[in-house]
Amino acid sequence: MSYRIAVLVSGEGTNLQAMIDTVHGREGIEIACVGSSRHGARAVERAERAGIECAVFAAADHSGRAARDAALADWIAAHKVDLIVLAGFMELLDATFVRRFEGRIINIHPSLLPAFPGTRAIEDAVAHGVRITGVTVHFVDERVDSGPIVLQRALELPYSRDIVAIERTVHDLEHELLPRALRLLASGAVRIDPTSPRHVLIEEDGAAGDTTR
Ligand code: GRF
Repeated sequence: MSYRIAVLVSGEGTNLQAMIDTVHGREGIEIACVGSSRHGARAVERAERAGIECAVFAAADHSGRAARDAALADWIAAHKVDLIVLAGFMELLDATFVRRFEGRIINIHPSLLPAFPGTRAIEDAVAHGVRITGVTVHFVDERVDSGPIVLQRALELPYSRDIVAIERTVHDLEHELLPRALRLLASGAVRIDPTSPRHVLIEEDGAAGDTTR
């Protein structure tokens, strides 16, 4: 039985591509479906090229956001996935959606949360002048970029305001961290601490909290 993933996207889909190239169809992991919030997103092309079932759920094609989120949730549920990965999905999902898949949605975010939540994280970090930034994989709750943290990786910034170069470096880090998180999740090594729901336990070789792999 494979560990089935739904990936939600809106744009370029480089994180989707990283998952296709590293974990899809390997190690018992399968990307079962890709849902896009936008027509014509490059991510849709990437999914189609990889032969992954793909559909567009644009809010404008529905009577509103709640109706779109409900249709998307039903479509995902029909694919019987174990995990939903938000990989550059640039819209908020409503509370009904989040509750339906509670504990089974993760997001990749291009900063060391809780610093710089929101859609302009890299620009905000550079504008603030931070010397260390990074990337975060976290569970999704009903608020923005706020759920329990699964993995983080830090990155030292040189003095530079070259946003394009910094974005490239941050994205490279994302493309490593997200597949790593998926391997850990698929192997059953990740769970919310039952005594402290803000904290995520990662077990490897029986050692809770060891994230060295
Ligand atoms: C990534 O930086 C991700 O962290 C953020 O949106 C961006 C998506 O990039 N949530 P891509 O579509 O995967 O190329």
